Amino acid sequence: MPTTVKDIRNMAGETRITMMTAYDAPTAAIADAQGLDILLVGDSLGNTSLGYDSTLPVTVDDTVRHTAAVARATENALVVADMPFLSFGVDDAESIKNAGRMLKEAGAKAVKIESGPHTVELTRKLTQLGIPVMAHLGLTPQQVNQLGGYTRQGTTRDSAAAILDLAKQHEAAGAFSLVLEHIPANLAAQVTEALEIPTIGIGAGPDTDGQVLVVDDIVGMSDWQPPFAKQFGNVRAEMEKAISAYADEVREGSFPGPEHSHVEKDLDNLY
Ligand code: KIV
Repeated sequence: MPTTVKDIRNMAGETRITMMTAYDAPTAAIADAQGLDILLVGDSLGNTSLGYDSTLPVTVDDTVRHTAAVARATENALVVADMPFLSFGVDDAESIKNAGRMLKEAGAKAVKIESGPHTVELTRKLTQLGIPVMAHLGLTPQQVNQLGGYTRQGTTRDSAAAILDLAKQHEAAGAFSLVLEHIPANLAAQVTEALEIPTIGIGAGPDTDGQVLVVDDIVGMSDWQPPFAKQFGNVRAEMEKAISAYADEVREGSFPGPEHSHVEKDLDNLY
């Protein structure tokens, strides 16, 4: 049965939510078969798959294309599209149009928005229009130039109180869930306690309602990963082994062998 935003809301405080990023159909199919609750087509797409050194260059068209690939391969998980930098928050009509494309064209069931004081009203509007919103507070990587790096957030009493306040405002505006990134575990625990909607943490300790990680970090594809990520496999090493074995066999002439070739007798002696 396809997971709905209502199912995710109902998991708060009951069942731990499993969420990861996915950017392509094969990865989505594998993750869906493992029973992940949410697949996020994160704008981390820019770093993991498009070769950029930040998420800022990712476009609405990039996200629509990759979200559509993920949605086509997903039967059960909730597919959420991450709104790229400046695709929201500049102009309401433009924000709504861009978010609408994620549902209408790409098959997402919700959008995620890197949130701040400027996204409370937008969250209300999108929710009223039927576009469910996952809010995102703490470290919001689209603000990297403002923040001066991918640094921990909510580490002072004032900044922690601001995150808690914004979390409540986004819940009141209709957000169905909230990602908390790179904040102290004790702050994440208090935000989780204060909200009815589920919190999903990344670098936010064990007390959120769920966890999210970037798939490349989970499977060991990244050449760098943040301190809060855990590598559960080593796909990169497996790929290196397979690709170098392939190249070796081509160079020494042992691939393709007879079992990978076919011969038609009538084609001998053509000249
Ligand atoms: O873009 C992304 O992958 C994200 C998650 C890390 C939450 O925003």
